[in-house]
Amino acid sequence: MCCGMTWKAMAGALLLTLNLILLGWGAEGQGNGRDKKEVPGSSTVYLGQNTHDWRPLIHTTVNLSQIGSIKSSFQFRTFDPEGLVFYGDTKNGDDWFVLSLKDGVPLMQINKEGVLISVAGTPRLNDGKWHTMEVSNQGKFVILEVDGTGGLVVGMHSKQIEEVIHGKLRLSLGGMLIGKEKMIVQFNPKMDGCVRKGNWLNLTVPWVAEADELQPCYENIQPGSYFPGTGFAIFNTSDFQIDEDHGVRIELWGDFSQMDGTLLSIKADGEELVFSVVADNNTKDFTFTSREEVLTMKNTFKRLQIKFQKDSLRVVKHEDESSADFSVSAGSNTSYLSAWRDGHLAIGGLLGENDDDVGSKFLTGCLEKIQVQGKDLDLDSARVKHVSVSSHSCPA
Ligand SMILES: *[C@@H]1O[C@H](CO)[C@@H](O)[C@H](O)[C@H]1NC(C)=O
Ligand SMILES: *[C@@H]1O[C@H](CO)[C@@H](O)[C@H](O)[C@H]1NC(C)=O
Ligand SMILES: *[C@@H]1O[C@H](CO)[C@@H](O)[C@H](O)[C@H]1NC(C)=O
Ligand SMILES: *[C@@H]1O[C@H](CO)[C@@H](O)[C@H](O)[C@H]1NC(C)=O
Ligand SMILES: *[C@@H]1O[C@H](CO)[C@@H](O)[C@H](O)[C@H]1NC(C)=O
Repeated sequence: MCCGMTWKAMAGALLLTLNLILLGWGAEGQGNGRDKKEVPGSSTVYLGQNTHDWRPLIHTTVNLSQIGSIKSSFQFRTFDPEGLVFYGDTKNGDDWFVLSLKDGVPLMQINKEGVLISVAGTPRLNDGKWHTMEVSNQGKFVILEVDGTGGLVVGMHSKQIEEVIHGKLRLSLGGMLIGKEKMIVQFNPKMDGCVRKGNWLNLTVPWVAEADELQPCYENIQPGSYFPGTGFAIFNTSDFQIDEDHGVRIELWGDFSQMDGTLLSIKADGEELVFSVVADNNTKDFTFTSREEVLTMKNTFKRLQIKFQKDSLRVVKHEDESSADFSVSAGSNTSYLSAWRDGHLAIGGLLGENDDDVGSKFLTGCLEKIQVQGKDLDLDSARVKHVSVSSHSCPA
């Protein structure tokens, strides 16, 4: 192998390529004249399919003069506490409405005639059940009803507000048509959720889908992060608070014996892999690989804890009543924490196994819970997450 490029530059280039591949650039947005696919507004739409954080997954435009109803309703299901659901605007985006979820409850943000309003409130929606949502505009009020009862009501009155009856109205799902900087309350737009049975202002005009095919929603879901074996999620380890004295703790929950592939891997930029855990569905074994040792053990348990310390690495498996562990000491040249200062943590895949292969041995299975330093890890906040990985739900 030759040497024009430093390791660091190479790793950087790989990560950039990876970003581009995972985000699906190159395939889209080229304006290649491809006819966009039309779908009915009542389609079942998996919002987690969206690869462009703020851009809509499906959208439609109608003349305001065509509108015969002031009500839109749809069903919505998620375990995700935060993300964008539905957007509507008039006057080419000067007046707009955004419905999202934050901390599990609905959040409406509205801009009308330059007046910005945000309102959030009960009920909590991220319980994995189908909820019927109804948004209507009644005189001076915008009303959000959930399951037939009043959720949120916003009243707005200004001498300047006059009813707009000309021009166009735009609607979108999973993204919006204005800049995110216009929001009063910032939020992460990624939503692992599903919308179905939409009735949008009683209109029958088709919507335009940005994706070639709308990904179906799972029939039944349970909480967790699901990896179908085609991609992974990568975090920048500097995003985590680490404590040099107490080390770093990662915990995973799930039925490991039903999984196949890499649960996690850690790698510092420009260095070889520090640690990985790989499950084998045939042998029902875990393989732990550190720089010093490769260890194999049965994986018929449900909770795994890994503690990284400066000079050692400790793996604890928790069974019903008992726990068992083993430790690996770092070689004289290794500090297990160095990868945590300047490196990457991958969930569901193996980092940088060889130069042109940025991810491999992808996980198939459901991680019911992932914690770093005792806090739930939200895959929606990963630096890169493959679109096939669902952050808050597994098929049940
Ligand atoms: C919408 O309005 C424009 C002009 O105002 C008109 O040309 C167009 O045909 C209308 N579209 C529909 C679907 O009515
Ligand atoms: C909705 O549209 C249908 C037919 O397109 C019509 O029969 C119905 O009365 C409309 N409902 C409202 C509330 O406008
Ligand atoms: C990781 O994050 C830190 C701080 O946010 C940043 O300085 C660094 O460039 C990031 N590393 C990579 C490889 O993105
Ligand atoms: C695990 O193996 C069983 C039996 O061979 C198979 O049915 C199942 O799909 C496999 N699961 C995964 C995640 O590979
Ligand atoms: C530690 O580093 C030194 C110099 O960099 C090298 O000669 C030695 O082989 C390394 N030892 C191990 C165990 O990697």
